[in-house]
Amino acid sequence: MDSDSKNIGKIFVTEEEIQAKVKELGQLITKDYAGKNPLLVGVLKGAFIFMADLIREIDLECDVDFMAVSSYGAATRSSGVVRIIKDLDADLTDRDVIIVEDIIDSGLTLSYLKKNLLARLPQSLEVCAMFVKEGLQKTNETVKYEGISIPPDFVVGYGLDAAEKFRGLSYLAAYLKD
Ligand code: IMP
Ligand code: MG
Repeated sequence: MDSDSKNIGKIFVTEEEIQAKVKELGQLITKDYAGKNPLLVGVLKGAFIFMADLIREIDLECDVDFMAVSSYGAATRSSGVVRIIKDLDADLTDRDVIIVEDIIDSGLTLSYLKKNLLARLPQSLEVCAMFVKEGLQKTNETVKYEGISIPPDFVVGYGLDAAEKFRGLSYLAAYLKD
């Protein structure tokens, strides 16, 4: 889908590498949450594909909810100002919550989300992020379930967009500006 576009550069992570990592993360979560009923909180829109793949690799009864936040607007740099566009339906009180993120860049979005969700008194709160950009984190948030480390370039695919495009690519590639 759109894979011949002149805006698509080097492939950083192939579809096979993504699927293998998602499987590994799912197995880890299955082991760590044995006997529990975790609530996966997906951060829209970027995490929708990762969430769909991840939940099928977790061999537990999981609940799912989504939250939509905006940290970039149409820009390609995080401003640190996070806006909640859609809040959760679920009550987090005493739940084992796992935030499911597409990518950690500056970490500012995650930092805000963790603070916001912790205030709702969950039993536990962990983070599962598919991609983490090397060297860009401005915060010290711990990501218990960390997927694949990538260079600090702007990337698209596997749910990630550039101005809403390229989310449907099955791999992760560099985005080349016009
Ligand atoms: P942070 O607050 O800088 O960590 O940015 C987090 C959010 O920005 C992610 O959840 C993504 O939705 C988006 N984002 C960060 N880097 C990229 C990128 O390279 N491509 C597309 N979206 C990105
Ligand atoms: Mg996101």
